[in-house]
Amino acid sequence: MSNVKFLSGENVPLEMHKVRMVQKVNLLPVEERYKSMGEAGYNTFLLRNRDVFMDMLTDSGVNAMSQDQYAAMMQADDSYAGSETYYKLEAVLQDIFGMEYFLPAHQGRACENIIAQTLVKPGTVAIMNYHFTTTKAHITINGGSVEEILYDEGYKIKSDAPFKGDIDVEKLKESIKRHGRENIAFVRIEAGTNLIGGQPVSMSNMHEVSKICRSEGIKLVYDASLLGDNLYFIKKRDPKYKDSKIIDITREIASLMDVLYFSARKLGSARGGGILVADEKLFLEMRELVPLYEGFLTYGGMSVREMEALAVGLKETMDMDVISQTPIIVEALCNELIKSNVPVVTPPGGLGCHVDAMEFCSHIPQVEYPAGALAAAIYIASGVRCMERGTMSEQRNADGSERLAEMELARIAVPRRVFTLSQVKYTADRISWLYQHRHMIGGLKFVEEPKVLRFFFGRLEPLGDWPEQLAKQFRKDFGDSL
Ligand code: F0G
Repeated sequence: MSNVKFLSGENVPLEMHKVRMVQKVNLLPVEERYKSMGEAGYNTFLLRNRDVFMDMLTDSGVNAMSQDQYAAMMQADDSYAGSETYYKLEAVLQDIFGMEYFLPAHQGRACENIIAQTLVKPGTVAIMNYHFTTTKAHITINGGSVEEILYDEGYKIKSDAPFKGDIDVEKLKESIKRHGRENIAFVRIEAGTNLIGGQPVSMSNMHEVSKICRSEGIKLVYDASLLGDNLYFIKKRDPKYKDSKIIDITREIASLMDVLYFSARKLGSARGGGILVADEKLFLEMRELVPLYEGFLTYGGMSVREMEALAVGLKETMDMDVISQTPIIVEALCNELIKSNVPVVTPPGGLGCHVDAMEFCSHIPQVEYPAGALAAAIYIASGVRCMERGTMSEQRNADGSERLAEMELARIAVPRRVFTLSQVKYTADRISWLYQHRHMIGGLKFVEEPKVLRFFFGRLEPLGDWPEQLAKQFRKDFGDSL
């Protein structure tokens, strides 16, 4: 956000855009919300969007696009091979990141498939600040394993550390020594570390990690899906970059990496994905997989219209007024919740506000999925759809036992430039009400449990009749209000 002070001294997340196209949303009465949650098997992924008031499940593929992005979509060059749109996008990526080789893919996990198939061999390990669900799945399916080496601070829910996504450099050195560098598939840094609450990585940490990887001859892979948020935090929280241009910060980061990939459903506010590679040999190896899994090299599974929107969206990402919009709303939502004593991850990160279900629902054991139960309860209380990020999002251990997540979070994502401050205040209000009635929330159990990425399609049922009682309590407390 540009520097705008209010007379009252209040810190208001001022929107630096205006709304020129809208979509009507419906807020169902609580009895219907209770019914819809049941029909969705207590899994917010299975709700129908027509039953959702504010879709805060994710920031993926649901960001508001600019008029220039829509305009660009009209000029796309439809062609299977050699589309001008591809060359336009390639030129924008080369300019922004300063990396020479580009491979298009249909979304972020498609990039992960290509990277994992190329670099992960059975028995190797991928070392990273923290995993993302799809990243880990691709590494393990190729016979590798994941090792996470955040500083201990990164695992703390409440903290004032500005860069909780940083890699613990001592743990990295120790890990390389323990495994031997030939057994390390790659080191991965995830910008705006998703599963620990959208927490950024500092520039100095990226420099240190890159130096170690280069001296050991280990490839450094950067997941730039949440780069926009991370850039905002580097500029805001690291005094060294206070006056730097966003594009210069971006180029400095990219210069440290061997491979950079992203989900364009987040970065660039379009839909698609891409891999940038510094080294020609690695690029040629990865290139073989693009026609096999994605499509011809000049579209890689993306629609040319989305590629046009992406080219414009990436350029717009280099503007602080654009990338500030999600983090300032996240901060406002967190601060509203903190006022009501609701436990949230601090400092507020990018992506969304993360409610600590381990504390909110401290009476629910982890094997009964407190974060999943909280996400279902939030929908019943508000019509807001958020996402479980905890044990339900983990895969079971080989012996069938639960792998308990380090954190149990209900993630209330803030899609870029979509919701207004009054809607954010509504969300905080209903969650504050829920917090007052938190002891009513009970656990969940799976009734249908897929083996891989079970949180997407799994169906659950409540342990007891707590959702019904919660809906009745809402009606009692709010009278005839929706
Ligand atoms: N990496 C990160 C850090 C992500 O957050 C995601 C997606 C991916 C990779 C995969 O990208 O969805 O385009 O295949 N995150 C979404 C989310 C799904 O809701 O956080 P994708």
